Amino acid sequence: MRFRVLTHRPSIAARLIIFMICCVLGESLDDKHVSVSGVPCYPALFVFGDSLSDTGNGNLTGNSFFRRTTEAPYGETVPGFPFNRFSDGLLLVDFLAMRIALPYSKPYLESSANFTTGVNYAVSGSTAENASYLYTDYNITTLTNISLETEIEWHNSLISMIPRANLPDANALKRGLYVIESGGNDYISAIIKSVYSIPDIITTFVPKVIAKIKAATEDLHSKGARNFLYIGVTPLGCSPSLLAYFSQEAKDVNGCIQSFNAVSESHGTRLLELVLELRLAYPTDAQFIFLDYYSAYTYVIQRSSVYGFSNTLDACCGAGVDYPYRFNQLSFCSSSSDLCSNPNVFLNWDGLHFTHRFNSLIFNITVDSGLYLNPPNAFFCCKSPYYN
Ligand SMILES: *[C@@H]1O[C@H](CO)[C@@H](O)[C@H](O)[C@H]1NC(C)=O
Ligand SMILES: *[C@@H]1O[C@H](CO)[C@@H](O)[C@H](O)[C@H]1NC(C)=O
Ligand SMILES: *[C@@H]1O[C@H](CO)[C@@H](O)[C@H](O)[C@H]1NC(C)=O
Ligand SMILES: *[C@@H]1O[C@H](CO)[C@@H](O)[C@H](O)[C@H]1NC(C)=O
Ligand SMILES: *[C@@H]1O[C@H](CO)[C@@H](O)[C@H](O)[C@H]1NC(C)=O
Ligand SMILES: *[C@@H]1O[C@H](CO)[C@@H](O)[C@H](O)[C@H]1NC(C)=O
Repeated sequence: MRFRVLTHRPSIAARLIIFMICCVLGESLDDKHVSVSGVPCYPALFVFGDSLSDTGNGNLTGNSFFRRTTEAPYGETVPGFPFNRFSDGLLLVDFLAMRIALPYSKPYLESSANFTTGVNYAVSGSTAENASYLYTDYNITTLTNISLETEIEWHNSLISMIPRANLPDANALKRGLYVIESGGNDYISAIIKSVYSIPDIITTFVPKVIAKIKAATEDLHSKGARNFLYIGVTPLGCSPSLLAYFSQEAKDVNGCIQSFNAVSESHGTRLLELVLELRLAYPTDAQFIFLDYYSAYTYVIQRSSVYGFSNTLDACCGAGVDYPYRFNQLSFCSSSSDLCSNPNVFLNWDGLHFTHRFNSLIFNITVDSGLYLNPPNAFFCCKSPYYN
């Protein structure tokens, strides 16, 4: 059975008009991201983030917790074998790569990889704030000491070696798409450690995370990057891991913890503000795109049955039906876990990360259709041979 996002796709005629408008406009705006059929609209994809975007770095850091992504049942839906990702299938950034007609981005720590079409620097467990700051100021111990700053340092050290046969060239660096997806782990740690009350996290901690994303952007821009996509934080109050841990917190109509969702929503609001600020600061030669993950998620959870998701709050893979939200930290999804019978009807895969099918749907209502994307038409001109 197939479920399609039909209601919010423009009609064929409307799509044609949008295509013509943006592609004609595109020609006069330099060849920034215009594609002629089959030619990638971006020559490279650079990804900065955490486990929602990690395509193999987490395991390669040697952290034994992340090694499970190299074992069943991870990857069981797509490609059908372990694929070094925290999902039963593909991640949002994989769908993005397909859409812009590039290969899935290779993890930076796979040193022998061919990086000519981009690099994935995302590391599971990584934070926007650096690990030493989180520890000294908040007594937060992170799963990895790699932060957004480290990922930017990795990028800077890689580009200092250009030109090289397996690295992106100057054109790829300048015209490539830079994705930043960070902050979720900072908030999860702050919530678990109760370093602040939730209102204080919103007023004090969120702006610090946003400041790190801004600093990362400015560093990348100073090295020539011009095309940026910012991915917001998912509604953390809907995460089985936090729902199981904080069972007494007040829930909203979707069964999610209201106060934690307010943190994610505030992050999204401030991230959009940052995007608007950056557009004013760099008005002529750069583009800044915002993917509103929080709203897209909320949209899906409110219409879950329409999209064929019968289970929105439990982990598909994990502790099994005897546990609230089928989650238990000590029985985190692994080769010996209890699996749900059909991951395609679950939003959540392992208590912290999403199923292939949910990632596909989020991609469809953001990047692909523009519904929860600002500006909505950012990718309308990109035509991938895989995507028609
Ligand atoms: C996972 O990481 C280990 C090192 O910790 C490495 O030997 C192994 O090749 C990695 N597996 C994959 C699939 O990258
Ligand atoms: C870590 O973050 C803090 C606070 O933002 C900053 O002062 C410090 O310079 C950063 N870098 C290192 C390496 O600690
Ligand atoms: C820091 O956290 C550790 C472990 O979570 C705890 O044992 C310790 O008491 C905390 N220290 C302070 C100063 O709060
Ligand atoms: C992280 O920790 C490892 C091992 O302790 C160390 O080698 C590495 O330099 C640290 N990285 C950062 C960014 O602090
Ligand atoms: C890397 O991939 C590119 C594009 O797929 C190809 O043209 C190039 O020859 C490859 N480089 C190396 C060193 O294998
Ligand atoms: C997303 O869109 C693609 C292309 O239209 C479609 O094949 C796929 O089934 C959609 N995903 C979901 C979960 O509806």
